[in-house]
Amino acid sequence: MPDIEGTNEAKQYYTEIPQTSKCYFLKGSNSLDWGMKNRLGRIFNPTSGNTVMLAIDHGYFQGPTTGLERIDINILPLVPYADTLMLTRGILRSIIPPDTQKSIVLRVSGGTSILKELSNESLAVDIEDAVRLNVSAMAVQVFIGGEYEKDTIINMTKTVDMGIRYGIPTLAVTAVGKDMVRDAKYFRLATRICAELGAHYIKTYYVSEGFETIAASCPVPIVIAGGKKIPELDALKMAYRSIQEGAAGVDMGRNIFQSDSPIAMIHAVRAVVHDNETPETAFELYKTLKNKKS
Ligand code: 5RP
Repeated sequence: MPDIEGTNEAKQYYTEIPQTSKCYFLKGSNSLDWGMKNRLGRIFNPTSGNTVMLAIDHGYFQGPTTGLERIDINILPLVPYADTLMLTRGILRSIIPPDTQKSIVLRVSGGTSILKELSNESLAVDIEDAVRLNVSAMAVQVFIGGEYEKDTIINMTKTVDMGIRYGIPTLAVTAVGKDMVRDAKYFRLATRICAELGAHYIKTYYVSEGFETIAASCPVPIVIAGGKKIPELDALKMAYRSIQEGAAGVDMGRNIFQSDSPIAMIHAVRAVVHDNETPETAFELYKTLKNKKS
């Protein structure tokens, strides 16, 4: 039996202190349920408001991409420095140690390869499996203007509906087809459609003109993809500008894992995303860490 003696005397109700109710730190997310907010708070750092997602899901449509041939050897050493891993359930189950403390964003769309029309995707993961894997968000590709535009939008809205049932947020990934113009006008359209239809945050590409209008007109957080490998300083400049112009982080793959020194690069990206360092300072950090290793 619990010891109840003296408990009446010990109680302290602080009647003079009203209970506070804080606004949630992420843009457009204040009305979400507790589980959604808790999961988003495992992806986005509540102090900086931003995230460094490490994207390693490329294999789901293009096989063993350069730098991802051996995820156990090349990627596991990077995991401690990412806020979140974005990947498929196959890689998660086969390679990522289940005692990881990192949040997971699970790729849930798929069904096509580089040999066929890429926009012809379906949902490729059952919500129950996302729950079993304890993921913090589900990522689904949306091809606005693509051949299967409507199907991919419906893939996203279904993911949003299923996720709401279990408190799992949806990341809409705006995909660009080979012949599509990548400009602010297009990405304003794509990101806004995804947000209007319920995505909790959106991944898009950085554009050098007008990115701030994409971020401003999207009512939920935006993260940028890194895109194809470019020199480290240029990738850091892109990440820096995106943050200054309203992005809440990066979901970066090739510009990290294809770098000459992926660990140095992810540290440098973190400096820009979380500590507001300039690209030049972050690049110095990159060089120092790279040289230390060699
Ligand atoms: C693949 C993806 C990738 O996760 C995304 O493109 C990010 O990787 P990278 O920085 O290499 O572009 O969504 O469809």
